[in-house]
Amino acid sequence: MLIEGQPTRTIWPAADGAVEILDQTRLPHEVRTVRLTTLDDAVMAIGTMQVRGAPLIGVTAAFGLALAMSADPTDSNLLAASAALVASRPTAVNLAWAVQRTMADLVPLASPAREAAAWAMAVRMADEDVAACRAIGENGAEIIAKIATSKKGERIHVLTHCNAGWLATVDWGTALAPVYVAQERGVDLHVWVDETRPRNQGAALTAFELRHQGVPFTLISDNAGGHLMQRGDVDLCLVGADRITARGDVANKIGTYLKALAAHDTGVPFWVAAPLSTFDFSLESGLDEIPIESRSPREVTHMWGRLANGALAEIETAPTGSAASNPAFDVTPARLISGFITERGRHAARRESLNALRG
Ligand code: MRU
Repeated sequence: MLIEGQPTRTIWPAADGAVEILDQTRLPHEVRTVRLTTLDDAVMAIGTMQVRGAPLIGVTAAFGLALAMSADPTDSNLLAASAALVASRPTAVNLAWAVQRTMADLVPLASPAREAAAWAMAVRMADEDVAACRAIGENGAEIIAKIATSKKGERIHVLTHCNAGWLATVDWGTALAPVYVAQERGVDLHVWVDETRPRNQGAALTAFELRHQGVPFTLISDNAGGHLMQRGDVDLCLVGADRITARGDVANKIGTYLKALAAHDTGVPFWVAAPLSTFDFSLESGLDEIPIESRSPREVTHMWGRLANGALAEIETAPTGSAASNPAFDVTPARLISGFITERGRHAARRESLNALRG
């Protein structure tokens, strides 16, 4: 998608054997590219959230394995690299999926063949992610088109949480892809953007990408969504996912569950957009079985942003020494979800419909 009118991806292989990423810890204030040259760089980029979003961390892990194989293609390094990448963030299953898929390709190969195969796999995964997200956009745009018809062309208001746009993938995004495709088709749209404390992915990233894409949006505090839904100011909620179980429970950014509850109470459709790589058919109960990442309390007691003098800085917002807890994701049960949008189509949030997506 676009930054200052220039088509941009979130990750790409550089000509000299490195990998380049957009550093998402500096957005929206600074557009900075970072070079990854080692496995440790890739693990660090995922852990510090220079790259984030379920599909993007999966693709970054694939490039991390390619960097590891360029350095040392032995069995022991392949195993150590895989373990380090899988441990870098626990909730989004796309990470383990990408590592397992790459391992299945590389393990049977003799060591000298692994470097080229790992790079080819990473590039293929990046391109497949773009194609899957574009297809999600087309499948989701049909939901928006139906609402546009029922509203007789009046402006449609979509509410989204966190960032599940192109910055969370290689390009296009998941929850925002239908918005971008609908925009291409001339639908009059406006997006309510939850700020998404504590790391503010909505304010920093979703607002950034919508602005550069020319989609009208309004930033709201995390607590405003229910109020807007009660007033009839939201036509549709669209969110992404980090892991979806066999019965359709969804782990996504902390706060998603509260939006789903409000949507259910007010009759607003609540759709989850995700590629097949986000489904984990080995799990049933999201609440009992999905590992929820716990991040630093400092993300809750402090905020990061730009000062009036232009400098980027962290400020403290709570009394020094306050105890704080920081679960990064929550689980929305299937019963609160209107349906899933994947690259294969739209599916009811029920085991029987999701079963068709296995394998
Ligand atoms: O902690 P983050 O920023 O990686 O969390 C991202 C989300 O929760 C997204 O909604 C999810 O990964 C889907 S991204 C297409």
